[in-house]
Amino acid sequence: MLKTPSLVAVRPARAEDVGSMARIIDDYARRRAMLARRENDLLRSLDDFVVACRETEAGRVIGCGALTLYSTRIAEIRSVAVDPAHSRSGAGRKIVQALVDRAKSIEARRVYLLTLVPEFFAKMGFEIVDSDNTSLSYLSEAVLDQSRTFANKALMMRDL
Ligand SMILES: CC(C)(COP(=O)(O)OP(=O)(O)OC[C@H]1O[C@@H](n2cnc3c(N)ncnc32)[C@H](O)[C@@H]1OP(=O)(O)O)[C@@H](O)C(=O)NCCC(=O)NCCS
Repeated sequence: MLKTPSLVAVRPARAEDVGSMARIIDDYARRRAMLARRENDLLRSLDDFVVACRETEAGRVIGCGALTLYSTRIAEIRSVAVDPAHSRSGAGRKIVQALVDRAKSIEARRVYLLTLVPEFFAKMGFEIVDSDNTSLSYLSEAVLDQSRTFANKALMMRDL
């Protein structure tokens, strides 16, 4: 199988992508590597998502990721996932770069994320921060609202 990053393109997600996105995310969720997202939840937040596609396979979706805005200046990256058959192909990096570019284009100043793979995001310029920091209350509220948890996850941020 070819694993050439240049054959991977990232674009905004479309409704027809939701099935593929849900399959990739659920595969990891079953192994407790990330949170599950229902298809109707993905559809509702479709505008937040980008997908990575294989240009040589009729644009088959092999990964996805989302950027959610919490204030005029603060955003969170969520649900970054790459089909394991295409891991280490550069797709994850391209997805994160596209989300960071999107954050910059809407003039966000800082991007946070919660992750079980801090080593990957460290390579994307993110640093681990203390989740007890009170200035993060908006993020804590969002996380609790969505029944998510900080447990076992690293909180990371990148200033733009
Ligand atoms: C983490 C994940 C998105 C990486 O995607 P990927 O397409 O394999 O990553 P890339 O090929 O773009 O890798 C970019 C760099 O990160 C490194 N990297 C990738 N996964 C890594 C990991 N799990 N641990 C450490 N480094 C990792 C790569 O070696 C590469 O380094 P290099 O630039 O020095 O060569 C993918 O493995 C995944 O979907 N994991 C499960 C879901 C998850 O944990 N998502 C993130 C939390 S929301």
